[in-house]
Parts: sequence; structure tokens; C-alpha cells
Amino acid sequence: PTQSVLYSFPDTATLSDSLAEYILKAQRESVDKRGRFSIAISGGSLPKTLTALIGKTGVKWDKWHIFYADERVVPLDHPDSNHHLAKNTLYSQVPIPHENIHTIDPDLLDNLEELADAYEKELVREFAQKDSARFPVFDLILLGLGPDGHTASLFPGHELLSEEDRWVAYIEDSPKPPPRRITLTLPVINHAARIAFVATGAGKAPMLNAILDNPEQGLPAARVKPAAPGQLVWFVDDPASAEVKFP
Ligand code: 6PG
Repeated sequence: PTQSVLYSFPDTATLSDSLAEYILKAQRESVDKRGRFSIAISGGSLPKTLTALIGKTGVKWDKWHIFYADERVVPLDHPDSNHHLAKNTLYSQVPIPHENIHTIDPDLLDNLEELADAYEKELVREFAQKDSARFPVFDLILLGLGPDGHTASLFPGHELLSEEDRWVAYIEDSPKPPPRRITLTLPVINHAARIAFVATGAGKAPMLNAILDNPEQGLPAARVKPAAPGQLVWFVDDPASAEVKFP
């Protein structure tokens, strides 16, 4: 079984700094091996934690290939867009080549199925060129944890939790607005080389306890279990880990 590791920090500044070191190490290993670093990021407070990488020695922004673990189906400059958030928070401050940032296709917003298929093709272009891998292997997927146990746009009790084939799926009934979204599926997430969850604040404490101590409840975040040799690491703050018993 996959081992997961939990790191808990007194504040978000030390958390962000440690996460930055973790990402840097992942980037180094990936660039050494393949000349590129493929990463999927989430929305919420996550892009802000990534700003700890700005100015650090050794970050090779031109080798980053960025995808979204999930994205809201809205125009790319809409305030609800995860891309818009990441652009304002991070990309505007660092030299990532524009073509390395993989957004949803803004011309397909009216057709969810085509939009999800197009994003899946974008992943195929990035990952499936060498071997005909069944699922892409991201170097790193960064995930948040919703107060209901959702992660990416995989919500509790949703039929997408049992998706076994698709790489990218869409939903039009997200319980959290906006309702129309695309998301990486669980098999894609679980094939990543590394997965890091970031969760902060006392509001996350009951959910962190449910995910880590009672995974048999089957909440979406508890289904994130990377296949060996994948790694799963939690970066949380002390208020969020206050109710965790997990050794
Ligand atoms: C969404 C949100 C959501 C968010 C989590 C964690 O898509 O509705 O982005 O998934 O990532 O609720 O949020 P925080 O990182 O802000 O705690």
C-alpha cells in the first residue's frame, strides 16, 4: 500500500516554504530525468502558496508544463476561473512560457463534452507520445481539500468517483458554484508520481480527521491513493491537523 506522509506547520508561511522545497525537489528530479516538469494545480488558496517559489534559486520556470486539476467552465479572464487566479497570483510574476500553460479551450465553453475531450487531447499530447500509457503520469499534482471532502471537482457521492476510463471528465451539477466544471479523474490523479494536498485552517480539522483516520467513509479526498511508487504528502497547518490521530 502507498505510504502517505503528513507535515503540519505552525503557520502558512512555513508551510508554503516547505512546500516550495518539495516542489523544487520534484522539479529537479523530473527535469534531470525528462527535461520537463509536468504539474497540475488547483484553485482555492493553492496558487497563493506557490508564490513562495518566486525568487528561489533553481526554479526552472521554462521547464514547467502546467495543467489544471480542475477548472470552472467560464471565460479565462472570469473571476471564477482557476486559470485567471493562477495568472494573477503567479504567472504574472514568473517567466513561464505562455504555451506551457494548458488552459481549457475558451471557444468550447458552450459544449462541455467537447471541452472535456479537447482537454483530454491536450493531456494526450503532453503524455502519450512515448509509450501508449493507459494513464498520464504527472510529475506532481497539487490538490486542495473542500470542507465537504471534495478534491479537484470530485464531489462526495458523485458518479464521477467511479469513472475508470476517461482522463478528463465534466460535471454540470457541482454542489459548489459554478456548477459547470471539468476535472481530472481519480485514475489520472492516482497515477501521478507525486500528489500533495494542501489544507489550512481550523475549518478543515473535522474533514482532515475524516479523510486520514476514517478513509473507509470513501470521501473523494480519501480515494486519492497513488499507485506505487507514487507518493502522497499532506502539507497542512496545525489548526487543520488538530483532530488527526493518523500516526
Ligand atoms: C472550488 C474550490 C475548492 C477549493 C477547496 C479548498 O473549486 O470550488 O477551488 O475546490 O480548492 O475548497 O479551498 P482552499 O484551498 O481555499 O481551502
